[in-house]
Amino acid sequence: MCGIIGYCGPKPAAPILIEGLKRLEYRGYDSAGICVGNNGELNVVKRKGKLQVLDAAVPADFPGWYGIGHTRWATHGEVNDTNAHPHIDRSGRIAIVHNGIIENYSALREKLEQDGHAFRTETDSEVIAYLLSTLYEGDLEQAVKQTCRILKGTYGIVAMHQEEPDLLIGARNGSPLVLGIGDKEMLLGSDVTALIAHTKQVVYIEDGEVVRVTPTSYRTTDLGDRQIDKRVDTISWELEEIEKDEFRHFMEKEIFEQPESIKRAMQGRVDHEHATAHLGGLNMSNRELLEIERVKLVAAGTSYHAGMVVSYLMESLARIPCNAELASELRYRNPIVERNTIYFVISQSGETADTLYAMRELQRKGARVLGICNVVGATIPRESDGGVYIHSGPEIAVASTKAFTSQLTALYLFTLLIARMRDMSYEQGLNFIEALDSIPALTRSVLDRHAEVEALAAKYCRAEDFLFLGRGINYPVALEGALKLKEISYIHAEGYSAAEIKHGPIALINESTPSLFIVPDDGLREKVISNMKEVKARKGPVIALAVEGDRDVAAIADDVFYVPKAGELVYPFAMMIPLQLFAYYCALQLGRDVDQPRNLAKSVTVE
Ligand code: AGP
Repeated sequence: MCGIIGYCGPKPAAPILIEGLKRLEYRGYDSAGICVGNNGELNVVKRKGKLQVLDAAVPADFPGWYGIGHTRWATHGEVNDTNAHPHIDRSGRIAIVHNGIIENYSALREKLEQDGHAFRTETDSEVIAYLLSTLYEGDLEQAVKQTCRILKGTYGIVAMHQEEPDLLIGARNGSPLVLGIGDKEMLLGSDVTALIAHTKQVVYIEDGEVVRVTPTSYRTTDLGDRQIDKRVDTISWELEEIEKDEFRHFMEKEIFEQPESIKRAMQGRVDHEHATAHLGGLNMSNRELLEIERVKLVAAGTSYHAGMVVSYLMESLARIPCNAELASELRYRNPIVERNTIYFVISQSGETADTLYAMRELQRKGARVLGICNVVGATIPRESDGGVYIHSGPEIAVASTKAFTSQLTALYLFTLLIARMRDMSYEQGLNFIEALDSIPALTRSVLDRHAEVEALAAKYCRAEDFLFLGRGINYPVALEGALKLKEISYIHAEGYSAAEIKHGPIALINESTPSLFIVPDDGLREKVISNMKEVKARKGPVIALAVEGDRDVAAIADDVFYVPKAGELVYPFAMMIPLQLFAYYCALQLGRDVDQPRNLAKSVTVE
């Protein structure tokens, strides 16, 4: 989604703004712009398209030491130069960048138009600049506060004024905003990746707060001018973690990082002595854990698929009713919150609007909500009642890969913890830990055979439709495989339970529609093999992911990719890797923009 960067300090602002925007590219955008203040004037350059276009349009000598920049992901109004941010007021004295959606913009715009303001863009954001200009009486901070009182909806805003040099005013309601404290320089960003090249000292701005920033000072207040003392946090990520290194794409790098990221998610959390797990961040006593009667996993997209996998695991190992729910649906169906039910919201970014709002709705009803998040300091982990960081390191590619397997890891550990408080014996606990310990090596050995998946992608990437089919705990893996393929290669792909195809999707089978079956050696293997035969009988090409040495599968499928034999419940890890690679190599061969696929954003901060 949209990205924000602001700078004030001793260095020329333009190159810092452009560099910050480059670091935000991964969020997804369709246009970009900057505004730099210099000697009592504001200069704006904005362009539709990629940042190279903007970069080329910014003059080499673009003077000014304070400024704001933005990458836009269109919501209101088409993608063009005019609708790109920053927006300036009619007089050209005030500039703003905005993330989020102003819900009452139509009414505000109508009123402003009646008062003689002529708008230039089709965006909701432009009303902010115009409101500021009508409310400005020599103090930008006060004008921002008054404007915020009028706005309805979500926003992260940064504003600047030509007559108040070296000053940025940031405000937040529902869209993230972080202050970076440098050496005689300050930055504002919509996430820490925009700031990390300059400082690791950050202050997270909360909803309802306004921050006044100069090169050497900052002050945070609420809309009623009450001062708010903020904690300074230190970012733990290193700059190198957001570089591609020798990889062609962030997605490729992140897929190959999984043996390590899975290990990190487990580190210090496995208690071999008692055959259980330690998850201190849950903030729950053993007694409270024992009282849990139901677990609900709430998320969107890939994180939802991780939740689905874990719902199978939890019911089978811990014997606790568990289900995954789409956050976007849960929020609006007036969910019933029962006593002794624990909710996990799962989110890589910790900023997904659907998930965040569902969490708030659950908390409002009195539920205890725990977070499973990657981005430290994001809104979900800050507002949840406890939780687990997955420690994947920054995930930059829009298509989520390593976060998925680390989310599984964290929730597998929670399952172990809670299962061991119930029916799972010490012996069974040790066996489960052994299976968990095997995952990094298991995923590494699958990754070592990436060339085989590349060959499969070369053979099948011209297909227009795909079915991904699995059963039981691997059914959500099939859904995730289909999601990966469609989001980065744009090939139409559907994920189904293999059992379900006879109830409809089998009508799609023909010689040019491949079906990719996940066939581990578990209790459902025979059934899946029958489903494969049904597809073959209708001349559908079959690709299978099976377990080393499974000749029955090889006899039916056109192509087989083998994963090593493993514990039944850890196959989702082994099966997911070739599906991620398959999507990646298909997209590569089709020449797609792998890391920033069309229309998608990394962190979806609007509903
Ligand atoms: C994953 O490949 C997707 N880009 C998307 O489905 C993502 O998982 C979803 O938007 C949820 O994001 P979150 O984990 O940051 O909440």
